[in-house]
Amino acid sequence: MSTIDNRTVPEHVAIIMDGNGRWANARGMPRVVGHRKGVDAVRKTVRAAGDAGVRFLTLFAFSSENWRRPQDEINDLFGLLKTFIRRDLAELHGENVRIRIIGDRANLDDDILVLLLEAEETTRANTALTLVIAFNYGSRDEIARVVRGLARDVEAGRLKADAIDAAMIDGRLDTAGIPDPDLIIRTSGEERLSNFLLWQAAYSELMFVPDLWPDFNRDVFFAALDRYAARERRFGGLSPKALAAGS
Ligand code: FPP
Repeated sequence: MSTIDNRTVPEHVAIIMDGNGRWANARGMPRVVGHRKGVDAVRKTVRAAGDAGVRFLTLFAFSSENWRRPQDEINDLFGLLKTFIRRDLAELHGENVRIRIIGDRANLDDDILVLLLEAEETTRANTALTLVIAFNYGSRDEIARVVRGLARDVEAGRLKADAIDAAMIDGRLDTAGIPDPDLIIRTSGEERLSNFLLWQAAYSELMFVPDLWPDFNRDVFFAALDRYAARERRFGGLSPKALAAGS
């Protein structure tokens, strides 16, 4: 257990869960085994985030670019999300966890759409941790959908182009109402954002940890929160020290 100080716990942690395939390969197992182990890591992380006092936890479960993977692996990933919702929804609801899904739902099959809606509707009034699952999500796609909506409103005369500002864009993103991530963690040692929350990450602290996602657990999560607590966030301004020196 770490020495987490409530004042420095990030309100919103977002995670790029990377390394399932490598975890399985290293053990001579099929990639799906890594994804299955990844779901166990999801469960541990949801519990750890709730215990730490994190308010929003966003997990990148399927990207709009993951359609480039072999069909079998796509089926596995869809199957794992469906199973996760079927098996864990009641327990998460019992723990007062709210579920939100971000990403494009336009071309998803009805069976998964029904489950995603059920998860959101069942937990809508919950007030503990909000678990945001990014599914069929890509940041550029999300922003393009917002821009199309704004263009339609301008075209129809409902909106003046000059009225468009950052707050209006924020309010039309899939993440509307969710604060920007304070901390974005990527596992497996890769150091990039891969089209994840590009708009929302403007001032996020980025953290890259070597652990493969199936090995991610409470200790790794709390260690990341400790490292976050030691960072100084300035949001484009000056540090208190620099301000004092300048006055
Ligand atoms: C990246 O590892 C991981 C994914 C593309 C999928 C993450 C999905 C899960 C953990 C399971 C379903 C999620 C939920 C919320 C129930 P990779 O396959 O790219 O690994 P590699 O880079 O080592 O090949």
